[in-house]
Amino acid sequence: MCGIIAAATDRSVGKLLIKGLYKMEYRGYDSAGIAMHVDDQVAHLRTLGKVKLLEERMKLEKPKGKIGIAHTRWATHGEPSELNAHPHQSNDRVFIVHNGIIENYLSLKEELTKEGYAFSSKTDSELIAHLLDRNLKTYNSLLEAVQGLKDRLDGAYAIAALDQNEPDNLVLVRNRSPLVIGLGKNENFAASDPLALAELTNKFLIMEDGDVAKVAPDSVEVFDAKNQLVNREQLTIDIKAEAASKGDFKHYMEKEIFEQPQAVLNTLDGRIGGEDVLENIFGEGSSELLAKVKRVQVVACGTSLHAGRVAANWFSAIAGLPTQMDYASEYRYKNPYIDEDTLLVTISQSGETADTLAALRYANDKDYLGSLAICNVPTSSLARESDFLLLTNAGPEIGVASTKAFTTQLTALMLLTLSLAKATGKNPRLRGRIIKALRFLPEKISEALALKPEILEIAPEIANKNNALFLGRGIFYPIAKEGALKLKEISYIHAEAYPAGELKHGPLALIDGEMPVIAIAPEHELAEKLVSNLEEVKARGGALYVFGNAEERLGLTSGKYINMPDCDFLLTPILYSIPLQILSYEVALLRGTDIDQPRNLAKSVTVE
Ligand code: AGP
Repeated sequence: MCGIIAAATDRSVGKLLIKGLYKMEYRGYDSAGIAMHVDDQVAHLRTLGKVKLLEERMKLEKPKGKIGIAHTRWATHGEPSELNAHPHQSNDRVFIVHNGIIENYLSLKEELTKEGYAFSSKTDSELIAHLLDRNLKTYNSLLEAVQGLKDRLDGAYAIAALDQNEPDNLVLVRNRSPLVIGLGKNENFAASDPLALAELTNKFLIMEDGDVAKVAPDSVEVFDAKNQLVNREQLTIDIKAEAASKGDFKHYMEKEIFEQPQAVLNTLDGRIGGEDVLENIFGEGSSELLAKVKRVQVVACGTSLHAGRVAANWFSAIAGLPTQMDYASEYRYKNPYIDEDTLLVTISQSGETADTLAALRYANDKDYLGSLAICNVPTSSLARESDFLLLTNAGPEIGVASTKAFTTQLTALMLLTLSLAKATGKNPRLRGRIIKALRFLPEKISEALALKPEILEIAPEIANKNNALFLGRGIFYPIAKEGALKLKEISYIHAEAYPAGELKHGPLALIDGEMPVIAIAPEHELAEKLVSNLEEVKARGGALYVFGNAEERLGLTSGKYINMPDCDFLLTPILYSIPLQILSYEVALLRGTDIDQPRNLAKSVTVE
């Protein structure tokens, strides 16, 4: 939930750390801080608010050092404040930054308080600095002191630490929180996300759980969970500079919305043939496994779960398979039904969402047929710990509100549907039809993006309301849910979604002139019933906004109709997501909210 960056270089490190923090602000942005060796001291700066404020402090105080650690925070324990900001320190000697949650922090805090350690913050992180300070009284080095931490800390953590008495290196430890090491020439780095290091290196070591690493400008030593020196595999990850910049767009979210034709093309690339999906696109042996699937269990959070809800319809309609859907945060606690014929499917943009990862780890110990991840980040824990994987290849998504991640997840899930159907020989003609339609999908998405001027007309009418309802039926209900989530998370307008037929069972009471109702209404077998539901809204004076492709049939006499491009019905959920994303974006823009970094949220939710 927070972003860590660390560097050991032979040049001034301040600007480099700040630049890295900017790239990780999507992970948290309520406070930031930095600590670096300067002569025989450690300079320590923290600010409440975004990285920009820390940068301004740095410009005033001009600390110059070559080895440092930095952090951007998303508060869990203790409100956003300068005292709760990282790095935390102990006795002006040890400085640490932490991402994760220390579950046994109360007992450790009590133990350290009895020993005379004073706490200045309300975080679960400060005790790590004190524990290290205590360890350094008996251990010979910061490396050993950090290795000694592992037996004491319960929970998830990625930590970078400095000891004032060891000015030539820093030490890292990782357990269930992401941390990668970047390798440079006479300089080495670490960060929660390779993206933060994209301009510095393309060579990475991915730390595994229990690893501790000593990092100096000219060396990196990694020790495994048993404290044995190990060689972790070196990966080359090329992240294009433009992928992590806004280009000519005002916000990352806007850029990411307009990247969707290319992103979907990238998801399809190399995975479909003339009339069918290719074999083993989820990894060697995956086609064989898919032939054995009798049921699917989907586990995910937020937008990713909405993608799963759409896919559940596809699995049933195209591959003839029943699906159980669960919020990742609920799944482990409900005694889930598990059997050897069920495929566990996890969906996650980041691949580091703590609840989804915990669900995967729980399931990996059980008798599922196998686990398959739909994920956007190749180095993520989810990608590495699943039996099979399909990368969405959307490129970095930085805006907190998921856009291109969602449509590429849907595209990937359609590829999974087709693979499941193919594995058991179901619906060959339908598969051919969908493959053909998928080839046109990027073009159709471009046509939907061209509807922006029409959406600009309705955005002001929604921007001055406090509530909104989204309606959809069948396969469009999850799209309505996603539309509502998008609107509330970036514009702070309260929004809910209902299957349109549920309106008269309660929510209809909310309808009046102050309640915009946004309906997803493409031509489909439920369209007529949806028309009746919309009539119910009209009759009560609700302001209707309808996205569809059958205006005449709908006979809308009031409200606004936005004519969508035609496309194969089974792919319409992907297409109809686009105008809802643009609508949320434009409404938020009018309301002047912080679109890429909405209040209280963070992109990657690495705490349970
Ligand atoms: C979507 O706009 C959200 N920011 C959020 O719901 C997100 O989809 C959820 O936190 C899951 O993230 P993941 O896909 O990285 O696992």
